[in-house]
Amino acid sequence: MSYYVTTAIDYVNGRPHLGHAYEKIAADMIARHQRLLLGPGDVFYLTGTDEHGAKIEKVAREAGVSPAAWCDEKAAQFKEAWELLGVAPDRFIRTTDADHEAMVQRIFSRLLQQGDIAKARYEGWYCRSCEEFKLERDMAEDRHCPVHGTPTEWQSEENYVFLVSRYKERVRAWLESDARPLEPDWRCRETLNLLEGFPDVSVSRQSLKWGVPVAEDPDHVIYVWIDALSNYLSGIGYMRDEALFQYWWPADLHLVGKDITKFHAIIWPALLLALDLPLPRKVYAHGWVLVGQEKMSKSTGVVVDPVTMAREYGADALRYYLLREIVFGKDGEFTQEAFENRVNADLANNFGNALHRMLTFAERHFEMRVARPQDLPAEVSALAAAAAAARDAHREAMGRLALHEALGAVWGLLDETNLFIDRMAPWALAKAGDLALLQQVLWGVFESLRVAAIMASSAIPGLALKLWEQLGPGQELASARWEDTVFDGTPDRTFALVRTGPVYPRIGVAAAKGAKA
Ligand code: ME8
Ligand code: MG
Repeated sequence: MSYYVTTAIDYVNGRPHLGHAYEKIAADMIARHQRLLLGPGDVFYLTGTDEHGAKIEKVAREAGVSPAAWCDEKAAQFKEAWELLGVAPDRFIRTTDADHEAMVQRIFSRLLQQGDIAKARYEGWYCRSCEEFKLERDMAEDRHCPVHGTPTEWQSEENYVFLVSRYKERVRAWLESDARPLEPDWRCRETLNLLEGFPDVSVSRQSLKWGVPVAEDPDHVIYVWIDALSNYLSGIGYMRDEALFQYWWPADLHLVGKDITKFHAIIWPALLLALDLPLPRKVYAHGWVLVGQEKMSKSTGVVVDPVTMAREYGADALRYYLLREIVFGKDGEFTQEAFENRVNADLANNFGNALHRMLTFAERHFEMRVARPQDLPAEVSALAAAAAAARDAHREAMGRLALHEALGAVWGLLDETNLFIDRMAPWALAKAGDLALLQQVLWGVFESLRVAAIMASSAIPGLALKLWEQLGPGQELASARWEDTVFDGTPDRTFALVRTGPVYPRIGVAAAKGAKA
């Protein structure tokens, strides 16, 4: 078993924004969860940057630097941002990487030889921000781009065209297949409609220098979307390391934003069919993060900087908010107030609170070592049952990519654990000197937290580790696997507790600071 997950590769026309971060964080949670299930060696997470095309050439020129220098600087910024956010891909690919460029040329040549790509005059209205020709029926007033609201430009060129029409029926059959390769299902219906009358696509540009040249006709560069999509192949060694490629392909999941669904669910499968390659198992189109109802992007000017957020509140606070608050697949909003409330309630109060409530008893009565008691009372068995149910629910929700629900299951277990503490009233047991029952209660709480920490670690790896190290469960969190989420699944586990302070301190609420109206 292996699992290969990719994200969209980001345009480097600006700094990484919250929408970019959201996608990379979501894929990171999925990859980390799969590493628990399969082991780290059997999961490959690919992300990176999309660096060619007219738009990048233009911003570089405006900045007075070469496109290559511009891209080097931007790619470094993206990489750094992902490191700061705990996003850990197995490869960060750039479309300017030599292995990628060489492969793109070879793919193009093959399609040309096969007659899947042919030369033709191609004319139309072009949006540089979309890097796409627009159909008359899709444009806004005055031939403005419906996405960016900026004027499109007339282009008329001798171009190479990819004959999507050759593969349309097979793409349709794939989209309609029981495996449901495109989700959410409403996106699939939308895409099937779009497939009707979907035109052949122009796949080269003559007016542009910043791109991969067509080997047979170096006046032309290869269209940025063909270049970009095929990163999913070059990233795992296609045409370079056949064994490696065979190991990972087909992709288990292409995670992309809803605005680029058609590229991934029409053009991409058509291209793969032309290359005689198996189609991906799943394309999932996530929604947008909105700030004050606006899609975040350079072009609309609404930007919440994920790097600043991570520096101020910690990477895991931002990760948790985005993953828990937004119904995965739908659009979601970012507001400072909702962020602070969510983080205070779930991270400062709930996560780590149970540990905090119990450490005093462990210190006072057990010298910070709580061994598994001989017997566990019925109340602890009930907590074990809650842990087992949370474990099933978490895994099931992850299987459906309901990331928010998967976290809901873990936080449900944390609620249960805090209720268990209230019910068992360890303070009363301590006072009455019932140390046998006190030990059972403490052990039950710690075991439940251990299970929760492993499951939470895919979303909030840093905070999970902070909890884990205070629990001292006699294992490295990094070596934990899905089997370790069984409550009391290992004989005689002893907790060697360490107090290092609150797992996540409360953050100031914006309204209370009077910062915002
Ligand atoms: O489309 N909320 O690059 P890109 C959530 N290079 N996701 C968002 C978002 C938001 N506000 N804004 C953008 C491209 N995204 C191409 C992809 S893939 C072979 C080539 C998502 O920088 C967007 O939907 O415009 C896309 O999935 C990703 O960020 C990169 O967007
Ligand atoms: Mg975009």
